[in-house]
Amino acid sequence: MVFTDSPDGRGPLGDDASSALLASLPKVELHVHLLGSAAVDAVAGLAACRPEAGVPADPDKLRRYFRFTDFAHFLEVYTALNRLVTSGSAIVALVCGLGDQLAADSVRYAEVTVTPLSHLRVGIPDDELAQALSAGRRLVAERHGIHLNWIFDVAADDGAAGAFATLDWILRQQPDGTVGFGLGGPEAGAPRRLFRAAFDKARANGLHAVPHAGETSDAGEIWSAACDLGAERIGHGIRAVGDRALLDHLADRGITLEVCPSSNVCTGAVPGIGEHPLPALLAAGVPITLGSDDPALFATSLNREYRLCHEEFDIPPTGLFDIVASGIDAAFCPPWLARDLHRDLAQARRRFDRQQRVG
Ligand code: HPA
Ligand code: ZN
Repeated sequence: MVFTDSPDGRGPLGDDASSALLASLPKVELHVHLLGSAAVDAVAGLAACRPEAGVPADPDKLRRYFRFTDFAHFLEVYTALNRLVTSGSAIVALVCGLGDQLAADSVRYAEVTVTPLSHLRVGIPDDELAQALSAGRRLVAERHGIHLNWIFDVAADDGAAGAFATLDWILRQQPDGTVGFGLGGPEAGAPRRLFRAAFDKARANGLHAVPHAGETSDAGEIWSAACDLGAERIGHGIRAVGDRALLDHLADRGITLEVCPSSNVCTGAVPGIGEHPLPALLAAGVPITLGSDDPALFATSLNREYRLCHEEFDIPPTGLFDIVASGIDAAFCPPWLARDLHRDLAQARRRFDRQQRVG
């Protein structure tokens, strides 16, 4: 099977019937940041209204602005983008824009990471942020039938105090669809273990633990995410490769890695797609799900990540079906939705098998 790309990388996986079928698989997206999903045109519009933020308002210049020299540079750009989003209505627009993209990728369920402190810091009031997220979530459900849940995270450079402030906001506002507590931002200088007490509190309040770890730091931080923070899934975790005991630990405990290949290439977390450890992680039996991370900043989409896996790592369509199934298993979605997704995925597999026999 040949997978071809659409010009903007966001269309169907390819132009033959099998590729279209793969693009239309009922998927889950478990690693996507709300702010990093803002489409180039939407960011350009916001940038035009706030020239003082220093973000280009011209779409071509903006695409160039989204070329990162390293992970630290990526975080700088991310912080500048955050300064553009200063109202509840901008948050609703971001959620709706993300919903449109998810629909184009045949995503039926997504866990969206939002960093409340960053939005509160630029002046969005506590309750306005929560209400905007709920309004956006409702609109996406009405327009596309997509179920969104939230993972609220803290940027590690906000420290343990920031983590507790984030939890206070969550517990005060209790936004509909809150399922998890995360940890993003830099890993350098911010060991995961500093957040142990905050993750204990999150768990005591019914939140799942989904920190980033091992994106730019070493396997020790992934151990810490698993053992100190009780991670149920880990954002990236790609540096687990090479630590046999850790790979076994992740596989035995079913701790799923949210792997985002384009993100890792664009931030320099890996030298190139050819060096990406995804195939080694799969071979070690570690459960993985694919994510787009910050799709607008990395000019990608979830479908494109699946296509990359096929084209760059030679993962056959059956392997892609298995990755979709792992994602459903790792999702914190209502059980009825997981059952529906597995049923629809099984139906798609049967259609695909029939097509292969006929073709
Ligand atoms: N890592 C850490 N922080 C982030 C990321 C990421 O991949 N994306 C947005 N914030
Ligand atoms: Zn991320």
